[in-house]
Amino acid sequence: PRTAPILVASNRGPVSYTLGEDGSLTARRGGGGLVSGLSAIGPDANAVWVCAALGEGDREAARRAGDSHLNPGDTGGRQVRMLDIAPDVFAAAYNGVANSVLWFVHHLLYQTPVEPVFDAEFAEQWAAYESYNAAFADALAQEAVDEAVVLVQDYHLALVPAMLRERRPDLRIGHFSHTPWAPPDYYRLLPDDVAAGVLRGILGGDRAAFLTERWANAFADCCAAVLGAEIVRDGDSSGDRNRDGHGDGMATAVRFEGRETRLGVHGLGADADFLRERSRRADVDERLSTLRAQIGPGRKSIVRVDRTELSKNIVRGLLAYRRLLETHPEWRERVVHVAFAYPSRQDLAVYRDYTERVRRIADEINEEYGTEGWTPVALHVKDDFARSLAAYRLADVALVNPIRDGMNLVAKEVPVVSERGCALVLSREAGAYAELGEDALVVNPYDVEGTARALHEALRMSDDERADRTKRLAAAATALPPQAWFLAQLGAL
Ligand code: G6P
Repeated sequence: PRTAPILVASNRGPVSYTLGEDGSLTARRGGGGLVSGLSAIGPDANAVWVCAALGEGDREAARRAGDSHLNPGDTGGRQVRMLDIAPDVFAAAYNGVANSVLWFVHHLLYQTPVEPVFDAEFAEQWAAYESYNAAFADALAQEAVDEAVVLVQDYHLALVPAMLRERRPDLRIGHFSHTPWAPPDYYRLLPDDVAAGVLRGILGGDRAAFLTERWANAFADCCAAVLGAEIVRDGDSSGDRNRDGHGDGMATAVRFEGRETRLGVHGLGADADFLRERSRRADVDERLSTLRAQIGPGRKSIVRVDRTELSKNIVRGLLAYRRLLETHPEWRERVVHVAFAYPSRQDLAVYRDYTERVRRIADEINEEYGTEGWTPVALHVKDDFARSLAAYRLADVALVNPIRDGMNLVAKEVPVVSERGCALVLSREAGAYAELGEDALVVNPYDVEGTARALHEALRMSDDERADRTKRLAAAATALPPQAWFLAQLGAL
C-alpha cells in the first residue's frame, strides 16, 4: 500500500524488542547518534520509518505486525515497519559488511592486528549486503506515495538510493552518513567493485549529506578517484575534472553518468529541551546521589560515555589517565575517572576482545594506584541512560577522544546538561571538533602523553573559565537540534 509521503530508512530503528518466556514483547529505545537524531520524527511527522529486525524479539514483533506498522504505543507514536530479513543475510550484511568493513574503512580502523581480508567469505557477505539493501528498497518502493521524499540513513544502506531510483524514479531520495568518510587512498583498500558499488549506490540519490564538510569533501574525493566523477565546488560552476587536486571550496555536487547528486552538510546538534527536562527527573537525581557517593567528597571527576567501540579510543583514554596519575601525583586520591563503556556489537570478536582490554586496563590502574578509600577508575559496562545524564550533570571534565567519529553527540550533550561547567577534552578527529574546537582542550587521539597533559589542564581550569567555556560550548552544541536537522534535510530535497 502506498501511504507514506515521507520515509526514513535505517538499519537500527527507534525501538528494539525482547521476547519474554511467556511470549510477551518488551520495547526498548535504540542507542547511538543516528537514533538520537531521528528522534525528531515525532508522531506528527507523517513519516514511515523502515528499519531492520535486529534480534529474535524484533523478528517476532515484525511477524506479528505482518504488513502493517508496529504498535505505535511502543514506538512513541511513530509509524515503524521492521523488516524480517533472513538471519544469515542480516548477519552477513550487518556484521560482515557494514560493521566489519565499511565501519572500519570510514574510521580508519584497519591496523595490525585487524587487517582487511577480502576472500570468498567476504564475496558472499557482499552478496548478502546487496540483498539486504534490496529488501529495504522493495519496502520503501511499496510504502511511498507518488513523489514521496525518502531519507536513507548510514553505511548499512549505501546501495538503497540507486536501487530505489530504479524501482521508483518519481521519488526524491537523500542519503545521510552518520559516520566519517574515508579519504580516497584508504577507501581504495576496498575491492574495486565494492568501492565503486557503494559510491554508485549513494549517487543514485538526489542528495548525499554528511555531518561535516570534511566528510562531504572526502566523499567527493572518493567519487573522483574511484569513479572519475566530476566534482562541483563552491564558486565553481564548471566542475573540477582534476582527479587528484583538491579545489579550494567545499564540494557541492557530484556529476556522474549524466546525473547530479548534490552534497549537503547538516551538523546534528544536541536536543537542549529534551536533555534539560530528562536530566532533572527523579531517576537521574537518584543516580546522581549514588555517583557522588562513589566518587567521594571533594574529589573531581573525569567522565566518559561511549559504546565500547574501537573508534572511541577508550583504551588510550585510560592510558592517558594512568599517565596523569603517574606524572601528577597531586591528583591521586583527588580525582575519579568515571568511564561508561556500554556493550556494543558483541557478535564481533574484535569488539568482545576490546571490551576485555578495557576492563583489564581499568583493573590494572585500580590495582596500581587504588587505596582503601579511593578507586581511581569507576568503570560501568551496563547501559543506563539516566546514569549517563547524572554523570553529565556532575562531570568536571569530559573526555571525548575518538580516533575518528562522524560527530560525537556526547561532546555536545555534556555542556548542555552540566551543572557547574565542565571542561571538554576533545579529539580533533571528531566531527564535533569543527563546531566545538575553540572552547575545548583539543587532543590528537593517538597521543597519550598529550591527552594526559590536556586532562591535567582541564582539571586545573578555574571555575570561571570552565563556566564561560561551557556556556559557549552549549550554544554551539545546540545550533542544529534534531528537529531542525531533520527538517533541513527534508527541505533541501
Ligand atoms: C553509529 C552508527 C549508527 C548506529 C550506532 C549504534 O552511531 O552511525 O548507524 O546505529 O552507531 O551501533 P549499532 O550497531 O548498535 O546500531
